[in-house]
Amino acid sequence: MPISNTSTKSTSRQASELDRADSITSARFVGRRQSLIEDARKEREAAVAAAESSEGSEQIVFDEVDGKALLNLFFTLRNTKIPALSRTLKVFETFEVKIHHLETKPIRKLKDSLENLEYFVRCELHRADVSTLVSSIKRVADDVRTTKELKFYWFPRKIAELDSCHHLVSKFDPDLDQDHPGFTDSIYRERRKMIGEIAFRYKYGEPIPRVEYTEEEIGTWKEVFSTLRGLYSTHACSEHLEAFRLLERQCGYSPDIIPQLEDVSRFLKERTGFQLRPAAGLLSARDFLASLAFRVFQCTQYIRHASSPMHSPEPDCIHELLGHVPMLADRTFAQFSQNIGLASLGASEEDIEKLSTLYWFTVEFGLCRQSDGVKAYGAGLLSSYGELLHSLSDEPERREFDPEAAAVEPYQDQTYQSVYFVSESFKDAKEKLRAYLAGIKRPFSVRFDPYTNSIEVLDHPLKIRGGLESVKDELKTLTDALNVLA
Ligand SMILES: [Fe+2]
Repeated sequence: MPISNTSTKSTSRQASELDRADSITSARFVGRRQSLIEDARKEREAAVAAAESSEGSEQIVFDEVDGKALLNLFFTLRNTKIPALSRTLKVFETFEVKIHHLETKPIRKLKDSLENLEYFVRCELHRADVSTLVSSIKRVADDVRTTKELKFYWFPRKIAELDSCHHLVSKFDPDLDQDHPGFTDSIYRERRKMIGEIAFRYKYGEPIPRVEYTEEEIGTWKEVFSTLRGLYSTHACSEHLEAFRLLERQCGYSPDIIPQLEDVSRFLKERTGFQLRPAAGLLSARDFLASLAFRVFQCTQYIRHASSPMHSPEPDCIHELLGHVPMLADRTFAQFSQNIGLASLGASEEDIEKLSTLYWFTVEFGLCRQSDGVKAYGAGLLSSYGELLHSLSDEPERREFDPEAAAVEPYQDQTYQSVYFVSESFKDAKEKLRAYLAGIKRPFSVRFDPYTNSIEVLDHPLKIRGGLESVKDELKTLTDALNVLA
């Protein structure tokens, strides 16, 4: 029986209606109810004094803003105590509690023959009233308990909220970085800025505007495309090779055309559900990782400076289209990427840094073992001729992929990596990653709902039960399919 956004006003109304019903059917409770309210008022005054003299002595935990406490409250009302709900609501009314969320679920204890109702109430009230409210609820309900309400970083819950996730990191911006090949080229900087504007104006759901690339830009693309294409057969993993062939057939990947993000996005959506959205440059780690949680890849649209076709200090469309896009077309890799994104939602700054480092040593610079030797799957390798050769040479150190170690491995972004992590397979990497992510401490878990493109926060058993029902449906479908084959 979920009721969301219930206001104080409507709580009062419900209580009054129950009050009237009680007075008609069972007058004997009126006196007790009034007595309870009177007691609560007295206790409330006492609690204010107690709160002023011993702030924080109660072990009730909640989030506090402007003197208001946000409380998660659980309690059970036994079916034998029929007026208990009415009395409980009176307590809320007395303390002018604003109810944000109310849920019930039936529970049955071994010693009880009747099914009781457990209530979960998320509510807001004055900080000074918290302990008195809880003690008053304990008079009318059983198993009263509160849960900790921890503060955590905001994160998008709906895919359209990614419109707010475009905070740029200007570390390698040609306007600021003197080492950027385009730093002294005002025409290039103007062009890059113009293409970047597309990303700032973009809203979820719109087609990604097309860019009419210049001859010089296509020339840069051609040089890199032709050079790397020849190296892929010996250095790229089989998943990249397979997707690349499809991109050539279906998305016009060729030396003479810079593919448009809208076309590539449609291709990816059909393969793995991933989609692209234009990015104006290097994004903050939190924003970038949050997008992955929705299977959205933030993708730059401008191209590197023509004077430096084989190197770009910042991500550009060559890096994205040749390095990232083919890998995002692989289902296991797509899930691996999304799992990192889901783990980032609401995570601490420390964990965001670890997840970014993990992303760096896998999605950007990862190697994997295949039947014909170690190959590259990281986009930073597959879009850089020099580093692709370097990563598979005898020069760098190669270690077995271990998420614990990779998450804290020092990295640098000025030259080639000195250490690369080698995964046994994407499946193995995904399982190791999942075990690592389970250790990240958050007061809730999250789950992506592909039907609504939203994030569900699993902070209550009822929500988890709802998720399990969906999984049961899926399992039934698969079991039926097996039976048909048998
Ligand atoms: Fe990248």
